[in-house]
Amino acid sequence: MKKSFFFALFISVGFQLVIGQNPINKTQHTQLRRLISKMTLKEKIGQMTQINIDVISKGEVFNLIEPHSLDSAKMHKILVEYGVGSILNAGGHAYSLEHWKEIVSTIQRFATTKTRMGIPVLYGIDAIHGANYLLNGTLFPHPLAQAATFNPGMVQLAARITAYETKACGITWNFSPVLDVGRQPLWSRMFETYGEDVLLARKMGSAVVRGYQSSDSANPGKMAACMKHFLGYSFPFTGKDRTSAYISDIQLREYFLPPFTDAIKNGAMSVMINSGDINGIPVHANKSILVDLLRKELKFDGVAVTDWEDIYKLVNVHHVAKDEREAVKMAINAGIDMSMVPNDLRFSDLLYELTLSGEVPQQRIDEAVYRILAMKLKLGMFENCMPFSKADFPEVASDSFISIAENIAEESITLLKNAKNILPLAKTKKLLITGPASNNNMYLNGAWSRTWQGTHPIWDKNSRKTIADVILQEFPESDWIQGCTIDSLTNNKDVFSEKLNHADMVLFCAGEWPSTEKPGDINELKLSTAQENLIKSIAAAGKPIVLLLFVNRPVIIREIEPLCDAIILAYHPSENGVRPIAKILSGQVNPSGKLPITYPKFANSLLTYDHRYADQLANDFSLNAFQPQWEFGAGLGYSKIKYSNLKISESKSGKKRVLSIAVDIENTGSMDAKESVLLFVSDITASIAPAVKRLRAFDKISVSAGAKKTVHFQLDLNELGFVNRNSKWIFEPGVFKVSISNLSSEININ
Ligand code: BGC
Repeated sequence: MKKSFFFALFISVGFQLVIGQNPINKTQHTQLRRLISKMTLKEKIGQMTQINIDVISKGEVFNLIEPHSLDSAKMHKILVEYGVGSILNAGGHAYSLEHWKEIVSTIQRFATTKTRMGIPVLYGIDAIHGANYLLNGTLFPHPLAQAATFNPGMVQLAARITAYETKACGITWNFSPVLDVGRQPLWSRMFETYGEDVLLARKMGSAVVRGYQSSDSANPGKMAACMKHFLGYSFPFTGKDRTSAYISDIQLREYFLPPFTDAIKNGAMSVMINSGDINGIPVHANKSILVDLLRKELKFDGVAVTDWEDIYKLVNVHHVAKDEREAVKMAINAGIDMSMVPNDLRFSDLLYELTLSGEVPQQRIDEAVYRILAMKLKLGMFENCMPFSKADFPEVASDSFISIAENIAEESITLLKNAKNILPLAKTKKLLITGPASNNNMYLNGAWSRTWQGTHPIWDKNSRKTIADVILQEFPESDWIQGCTIDSLTNNKDVFSEKLNHADMVLFCAGEWPSTEKPGDINELKLSTAQENLIKSIAAAGKPIVLLLFVNRPVIIREIEPLCDAIILAYHPSENGVRPIAKILSGQVNPSGKLPITYPKFANSLLTYDHRYADQLANDFSLNAFQPQWEFGAGLGYSKIKYSNLKISESKSGKKRVLSIAVDIENTGSMDAKESVLLFVSDITASIAPAVKRLRAFDKISVSAGAKKTVHFQLDLNELGFVNRNSKWIFEPGVFKVSISNLSSEININ
């Protein structure tokens, strides 16, 4: 494999790029003010308008003429007459690098040479697990899988590569990371989150922001991150996307706000707003959230963009505005800077009227335009907005990028059950490979893979190997049969039985059909009946089963779990997860992923690991009601890691009071291992009913076979606090229990 700069970064231990807030300096401020003073109201509103690429392409919106091409007359209207400042999306599917460069340079040429002000256009895209709208772009495991690595350094590197490949297309704005904490397992976008824990989402989210926004000679040009979806989007009461959330202020601040707070501290340049409502108030019309909290309290100075059509939805979905005119007024006055309109120009016309009549203050327009132009300035777009030449990005889709994606998949795949150490498997084993995901990489890639829902294979130009292809090579005595789709059996019973009879065991590749947002809503949190039935019949035939799961969220598998000897949660590892799966099955790689969520056992008993004591009350009045299928942090390896010698002491570091914690870990097995060491703290008594435990620190450690290491943590006492009745973060003295793995110890802190 060619060793690249990125590969060198990857292997250099402790790699960290610090990029922090990136404020506008005095000269830039003057430059921006001068520019804005020369702009007409129409030009300003153009900057606040974001339009879908379909609108400037040949064909109809959502039904473009293939192969894709831009339409000059439509571009003239949008970019020149209306002066639109931002374009988004791909026209239905991914494009080649060459086509992206042509699209972006044509748009920029129009904007910079045919308009009076010559302001370049911000192109935005959802590159949420790699450059997923670039044909051939390197796909990484989805964020939930990335969280299972507990390795923010690796996640930061994936973000840097994503930025590299996205910028190679000429695109400088990424609608990522999703900082919504995944605390509603039914939600269709669970796989886009970094899991249910606040600290994990904070660390991963900030790593991604740094990865996207850093630039140096190896990664030229900047790309802006877009934190989304501010705020409380991931907690719909019904579990269905974009439905109402009911969240108290305490909960909002304790569980949903911190990843955004941290991302802002790390310099995130933009934010996208939650399409839904919280306690009945649509966030797009909520000034307390968009101004008081986001601007005044968190001091965020970047761009706030709506989500798709969300201003209009204040009328037809939320029913808080009587018409679109009122909706535009509400949203802009509540603090929105840019509207992802995205398929017409009514927003721009209405905002023009509203500003002329004084219903939207001119000062609100200037503020929004300042932020948008400041972002363009920070991205260096006024100096160079043309896609960089291919020579600047020689590593797009390189072997070294793919191997980094594979490393991430290796560290994310989570072994949840391994009865009688059935895994790893000898290469001589006769496996029958079956199940819907066995020969279809769409289950591995998930949504946001070359198309929005990830379900149109014709756009997947990568003829990559499937699980069946690779396993048949690795385990030459093996055989393959489809078995079933999501909905029904695909093979004649006798044919299936014949193959089954010849096998030592079955590798069942189960999954959920890829989906996200509204198309991903479900009424039942379970694996499909056809898959369950086939697994039951295989078990009835007495064959051991290794179950591989490729799912959008933790679907209930309670009935089939006892029938499977090994269970591996692969999340959506992407097409670059195929080889890692084979390596884990054969024991070339020791699995080290740990669950970033609680895996529920019953669909009506959905609790996160950091629930309150009262949530554990059982029918018999004991505190035993929390019985998930697997707990947050569960995950096995092939080597047993022994924990011992937990030590805690309190000390001072400058003005800060800190807890120093040390623990020994020993690899008692015969394979080198990577171990995510998770440190939980329980506040025993507090003025607000405390969570039974909270993750307060973690680290991923390599430990060779037979080796022993001491792992150290330093915890600022303030991190052990919580949001009190007055919505303030406080630390309350008292007894705290620190636990790591099977060890725990209490400390009284005054
Ligand atoms: C999604 C956003 C996404 C946007 C642009 C919306 O439907 O909710 O997450 O960034 O579309 O594609």
